[in-house]
Amino acid sequence: MSGDRRGPFVVAHRGASEEKKEHTLAAYDLALREGADGLECDVRLTRDGHIVCVHDRRVDRTSTGTGIVSELDYETLKGFDYGDGAEPADLLTLADLISLVLDWNSKPTKLFIETKHPVRYGSLIESKVLAELHRFGIAQPASADHSRAVIMSFAPTAVWRVRRSAPMLPTVLLGDTSHYLGGGAATTVGATAVGPSIKSLREHPSIVDRAAASGRATYCWTVDEKADVELCRELGVGWIATNNPGRTKAWLE
Ligand code: G3P
Ligand code: CA
Repeated sequence: MSGDRRGPFVVAHRGASEEKKEHTLAAYDLALREGADGLECDVRLTRDGHIVCVHDRRVDRTSTGTGIVSELDYETLKGFDYGDGAEPADLLTLADLISLVLDWNSKPTKLFIETKHPVRYGSLIESKVLAELHRFGIAQPASADHSRAVIMSFAPTAVWRVRRSAPMLPTVLLGDTSHYLGGGAATTVGATAVGPSIKSLREHPSIVDRAAASGRATYCWTVDEKADVELCRELGVGWIATNNPGRTKAWLE
């Protein structure tokens, strides 16, 4: 999962979520058409074990419904509208998104899947996600660089579980700088890449070189300012997640 010397690859954070409602087919479709190199999504389990793309613990902010994702069945969640009022949208599943990425023939866009709350779900969410990747034939890539899927988490345990079950899949350990400054958890759990926020990167620009020294790429989120895009390019960040992939691609040209 290496970067590119010409500049970071661009990942659409929750789709092209500045222009379309987050985690909707419309947001991801637009991101692909804008030339995104990767698509980021957050996944949660419904009460009956379906993997859905929802960021928050509850659906209240992003849908017409109310309630906690893990306490509602798929059919109930599917009954809510996830659009922006003008444009209705269906609940998106991980399977929908994998299909979209694999059907996109312009380039081998990667899917960055962030598992939410692995502590609450135990190992269930990682094993369900891996089963889905197996079902689509993308759980055992020839190399991390060629993988169509990347698994990410703020929880070192989650990354460790994925490394143990699917060693060829690239992983990103997100979050706290203590994970990767001073040889922390990213090394212990064998994450392929470190994932600082842009705020952490501004405060600790040496993260990128330190990660590279141990063979790791850097994935930085959420990079929406031009100056930050430039900073990432100068530092050699491999991947940047942005809410506006079209504008970010244009800045990098
Ligand atoms: O891409 C990582 C980033 O999405 C982590 O933060 O809250 O947007 O999931 P959050
Ligand atoms: Ca996320």
